[in-house]
Amino acid sequence: MQATREIPTTSPIGRGTPRVDGPLKVSGKAQYASDFHFPGMLYAVPVGATIANGRVVTLDTAAAENMPGVRAIFHRENIGRIFRSVQGPGFAGIMDERRPPFEDDVVRYYGQYIALAVADTFETAKAAADAVRVTYAQDKPNVDTDLKADDEPDVVATTFGMVERLESERGDADAVFARAPVKLDQTYVTPAETHNPIELHATTAIWDGSTLTLYEGSQGVFNLRGILAQMFGLPQESVRVITRFLGSGFGGKLWPWTHCPLAAAAARQLGKPVQLVVSRKMMFQTTGHRARTQQRVRLGATAEGKLVSLQHDYVYHRSILDAHHEDCGEATSFQYSVPNLRVTFGRAKRNVGSTVDMRGPGAVPGLYATESAMNELAEQLKIDPVRLRVINEPRIDEGLGIPFSSRHLLECFELGAEKFGWSRRTPGVGSMKRDGLTFGWGMAGCTWIAARFAAEASMQLRDDGTARVACGTQDIGTGTYTILAQLASQKTGVPLGKVEVVLGDTSLPEGPISGGSMVTGSVVPAVFAAADNAIASLLTVATAAPGSPFERRKAEELAFEDGRVFVKAEGAAAAVPFADVLRRANLRLVTGSGKSEATFGNPKPKFSTHSFGCHFVEVTWQPEIARLRVSRVVTVMDAGRILNPLAGRNQIEGAVVMGIGMALLEHTSYDRQTGAPINSNLADYVVAVNADVPPIDVHFLDFPDKEINALGARGIGEIGLAGIAAAITDAVHHATGVRVRELPVKIEHLLA
Ligand code: MOS
Repeated sequence: MQATREIPTTSPIGRGTPRVDGPLKVSGKAQYASDFHFPGMLYAVPVGATIANGRVVTLDTAAAENMPGVRAIFHRENIGRIFRSVQGPGFAGIMDERRPPFEDDVVRYYGQYIALAVADTFETAKAAADAVRVTYAQDKPNVDTDLKADDEPDVVATTFGMVERLESERGDADAVFARAPVKLDQTYVTPAETHNPIELHATTAIWDGSTLTLYEGSQGVFNLRGILAQMFGLPQESVRVITRFLGSGFGGKLWPWTHCPLAAAAARQLGKPVQLVVSRKMMFQTTGHRARTQQRVRLGATAEGKLVSLQHDYVYHRSILDAHHEDCGEATSFQYSVPNLRVTFGRAKRNVGSTVDMRGPGAVPGLYATESAMNELAEQLKIDPVRLRVINEPRIDEGLGIPFSSRHLLECFELGAEKFGWSRRTPGVGSMKRDGLTFGWGMAGCTWIAARFAAEASMQLRDDGTARVACGTQDIGTGTYTILAQLASQKTGVPLGKVEVVLGDTSLPEGPISGGSMVTGSVVPAVFAAADNAIASLLTVATAAPGSPFERRKAEELAFEDGRVFVKAEGAAAAVPFADVLRRANLRLVTGSGKSEATFGNPKPKFSTHSFGCHFVEVTWQPEIARLRVSRVVTVMDAGRILNPLAGRNQIEGAVVMGIGMALLEHTSYDRQTGAPINSNLADYVVAVNADVPPIDVHFLDFPDKEINALGARGIGEIGLAGIAAAITDAVHHATGVRVRELPVKIEHLLA
């Protein structure tokens, strides 16, 4: 492994740094969207349709309206205008459920908002919402789980623009598969999964006549501002969105949902602040979910294990009106060397709420399928699954025909195998037994895109020796406050405890969405440039202010190091703290702004930029009592330079925990009669909890990727969830002999 030492060891970069916002969170001082309260604030509770397909015929609000404390029952006739929004250039104006709430009386999924009760208290609003009487003309909903692609053109519209359904192609995958010496043809299914961040979606909306201010749990405040400006016909500068803290989102809070304009419209109609908290149950209906996918993978190989053909044809479900794209083929074209390849997708409309990104969108279900296929092929070939991957390691990105900026997947396998003890694996099913337990060992590789979104930041150096760094990105809970403090401290020499970080507000310099695992990589250049500009301003002040120790110097003769200014030629011995320089000049502060461009979406990239990694998993199986446990995980990540190994490890551990849920527990079930997501609570929608979690051994390689930023830091928020389900299901097969190709693995699969 390569060690780089460009940054001194005293640097805050690369040091395991506890969250700077930790004390605020544990003391309850961190304010989330529904923690904001204002005088006269009203509470809104939506009424959701109890059918999934049909039309509202009558809406009787009389009883609800007459309840004491009820301010209004809003519906299509009295909510006022809510306009449509359209997508802008690049990453602007994104919204998955584009139809404004209440636009027509057609119901297309269970829980779709059809009315809104607003009252003095939450309890009254809830009682009023329950008292609204609705009749429907009902058709049978289609929530079929067997997915066949709808008849569609070769190029289809999606939330992210036009997309070709032939996603990638090279060589002649069909013909070569037909004559391949070894073939695998399997279909893998992943269920609808629902985001369950602990913080519920919430909007607190204030409309003061000309300006709309929203406290929202949002992973993208600028996108939300743009959408709301469109939906209410306002200039962008008349809308302000604030997200100081997020109780996570997992992608469910990336793009706006319809509760948000509803709360804003209610605030407009009533002239009072309105708060709307989406209930846990409603979050299964109206705030997105990961699409169900059905993925056929065909692999052709030589007897020695060289891939000759790879076909990945997948179908996912989507809502009736929306077109979120679940790009399961995201990683397929570049992960392995194979001369003949084809990746296609199709979509199947269902009466479900809009689908949306969930942690590692596309690649996570996609890699579950392709990595599972590789594991099955390894078994068929009687080759070790690590060895099969080594044989098929590509030299370049064969999908784009360009080099990788930095790809060290083989080193991940090497270190992971060593830490796990993989060489002791005996391949026979059920062959590893100890203490009455059957052990199963499995592994898989993973990858996730690395790139930068555009970012702006500002930096202040102040006369009390503190610094303030501001960026309108959000901290989804991953540690963005801490990373910005580290970056600011690194450049200015101000200790972490004296750096003020301000995030999550559209009045700040425009920051990226908390998505794509790209915030850290994106903000590094912007924060560094802001710091450089603040320091340049300071040095100019130092030479210009009367009485300054540097009065007769030129700025270029001065240096700034560790928070102090000195004359380069004289060395640092007589350095002056920047606070002294400012005070002598009677300045409270100097400011610098910084900006960096996006690399994401570059149509002609020179390098293919991704993070890589692998998981090695052990399960234990007790057939007598049908008890399956994940008992040990070793994960190795090649994610560039890790700026904060503590927060970084937390990210990977959290993703592995979510992966245990994905493999063994999580699935949203839709009732065939009503179309309702029926396990819409945390008792019936089971996620992995502490008791499910074994020791997780996380390792990072240290190969800085300078294509991404000066520090070489790539993202780590999502990659830990990629591949893990394939590693777990392979371990399950190794222990039990049962290949489960439809997630999650259920006990009944194993009792067969
Ligand atoms: Mo992530 S699905 O980009 O929030």
